[in-house]
Amino acid sequence: MTVEQEVEGLREELRGHEHLYYVMDAPVLTDAQYDGLMNRLKVLEEAHPELVTEDSPTQRVGGKPADGFEKVAHSRRMLSLDNAYDEADLKAWDLRVKGSLASGEEPRYTCELKLDGLSLALHYVDGKLVRGLTRGDGTTGEDVSSNVRTVKSIPLVLSAKVLKAAGLPGSFEIRGECVMPQGAFKKLNEEREAAGQAPAANPRNAAAGTIRMVEPSVVARRRLDFYAYFLLDTQGEMLLGSQEEALAALGKLGMRVNPRVATVGSIEEVWAFCQEAEPLRDTLGFEIDGIVIKVDAAAQQRRLGMTGKAPRWAIAYKFAARAAVTRLNGVEFGVGRTGKVTPVAMLEPVLIGGTTVKRATLHNPDEIARLGVRIGDTVSVERGGDVIPKITGVVTAAGDGKDIELPVDCPVCGRPLVKEEGEVDLRCVNASCPARLREELRFFGSRRVMNIEGLGEVMVAQLLGQKIDEAEEEDGAPVLVAEPLVRSIADLYRLTKAQLMAFERTGDKSATTLLEQIERSKQAPLARVLLGLGIRFVGERTAGLLAAQFGGIDGLMDATVDELTKVNEVGPKVAEAVYEFFQEEKNRALVRDLQGLGLTMRAEKKVTTEQLAGLTFVITGTLPTLTREAAKERIEAAGGKVAGTVSKKTSYLVAGEEAGSKLEKAEALGVKVVDEAGLLGLLEVVDIEGGGGV
Ligand code: IVH
Repeated sequence: MTVEQEVEGLREELRGHEHLYYVMDAPVLTDAQYDGLMNRLKVLEEAHPELVTEDSPTQRVGGKPADGFEKVAHSRRMLSLDNAYDEADLKAWDLRVKGSLASGEEPRYTCELKLDGLSLALHYVDGKLVRGLTRGDGTTGEDVSSNVRTVKSIPLVLSAKVLKAAGLPGSFEIRGECVMPQGAFKKLNEEREAAGQAPAANPRNAAAGTIRMVEPSVVARRRLDFYAYFLLDTQGEMLLGSQEEALAALGKLGMRVNPRVATVGSIEEVWAFCQEAEPLRDTLGFEIDGIVIKVDAAAQQRRLGMTGKAPRWAIAYKFAARAAVTRLNGVEFGVGRTGKVTPVAMLEPVLIGGTTVKRATLHNPDEIARLGVRIGDTVSVERGGDVIPKITGVVTAAGDGKDIELPVDCPVCGRPLVKEEGEVDLRCVNASCPARLREELRFFGSRRVMNIEGLGEVMVAQLLGQKIDEAEEEDGAPVLVAEPLVRSIADLYRLTKAQLMAFERTGDKSATTLLEQIERSKQAPLARVLLGLGIRFVGERTAGLLAAQFGGIDGLMDATVDELTKVNEVGPKVAEAVYEFFQEEKNRALVRDLQGLGLTMRAEKKVTTEQLAGLTFVITGTLPTLTREAAKERIEAAGGKVAGTVSKKTSYLVAGEEAGSKLEKAEALGVKVVDEAGLLGLLEVVDIEGGGGV
């Protein structure tokens, strides 16, 4: 085999696996195996630069555009849609459509989920992705090709074979929606918050912001997905005879397409589809805000044409917003882990999408000013997928409304609040403020940090000698009812069983479990401890990079700003913050204290076996002892892969209590089903055969 052949063979293989992973959610390789193939390709390409092609899987992350994004005209305007809000609106639209078509001509309608992201136009020439454009003003978009290339559900190249199977020429335009899955959004916001940055408001904004970032390598690290919904020729006209055929062809090209579609013959069926689809909102893993209905036949679409800015042949049925109107009863100020003071709106309780909402965030003083909101006003409140409710505007101002007074002193410890130059937030800078300590401990014990089970809200309050019940919580400030047992995270490691059992609500069993969990956390890898220390701007990723670079805490504590800046991706702002943190004697003392108490704080060596290599698991329902996260970690550590949806490629479904549709699907497909014990059994085999025998 020549080098050329090996390189091309590797590319084909990698493309196939990217498709399985990012489009089908059904990977067959472990990450390590995938990386192995990718590394081999990189090595060959480095040795033979003349063989590098733009569509190689190694080239997803290329250079950034020199000066901003170029503006490029669309082949045909990217239109928006008229909205329908109920059955009557849909029926009226149906009549308009029929009125414009020849008499007796019955339109068929294709119904698709309306994904809440941003639309993109992708241009393929001779099977190669040459350009990706944002919608822009509809007529001209921005060329965001360098970022679009990093989205792994978008193929960089479509082989002659694939094009033939889909019955398509090599050059066309694909339009569709780019979304950030809720999981990726949540992770992004957790990282932003851990790093002291303001969270993104919703997945749509996060996706739109990401696709317009100047640094493709950062874009590549965030998971974005693309769902294709239009297939156009190079002139911007429908390439095939109907939308139904277009969606089928897009699927054959290896694009992700809308997971729920139906082409139906009447508006009654359209309405039924809308009603069935609405409850899916909470199960899809990405946000949808309605249903798009399109006249299916291209010829009919052409005849119907468009009005001002929207086509007559399509309409968007919008789900009821997850919003409500209620009265602002008051504002309290919460103090977070980093001392950030957040105004929290106390609302007249109101039901939004099945949840009673009593509080909503007002973000910061600037936001209060922007909204012009006063106590007593009637306000609109919105609740998005994973986001805390927020106030979006004043509906009616109260005649006797009261201004929201900003606190001068910390509502919890009473020390003066600080607002730094160029920052929007008020901050309590007292490191021993009880509210800060409470949040710090809860963060330290949380799953993503030290994963200390049992260190929940009530336990933390007891440890701090604070009393929390409904009444006090409404007041915000914790009331001290006992001498605190814990004054810093190090004190956690000095707790005794007798102390814990003295608490009203803690029995022998929970005291023992908590102590075991605390003991276990001493082995937590350095990255987690760094995250738990709450150094400004150090989120999960930065903590991981620092840990990998320095290997242990000692080197890191003594690193100079220069040395810190040399760490890949660590900029001067972060380096400065880390340096300053470890210059403070009290922080150094804390680290030494933790070392003395037995925390190992060493960088993680990934011990993985390959026993479950090639096996794909799907986890569903509630497992009796393992959290899903833990089960996933165990499977991955043994070389297995965890996917989100069941397919024929799934090796095992791990089903816990209340397993629903996934179990049904697995059974229908003949996929093996195991319970937690079964999974542990599989892992044990690995432990003995793979990791054991030392
Ligand atoms: S069709 C002229 N199909 O919704 C047709 N749009 O409110 C316009 N969207 O700009 C697009 N899912 O960003 C279409 N399955 C889908 C969609 C969809 C989401 C977005 C798209 C569009 C907006 C219109």
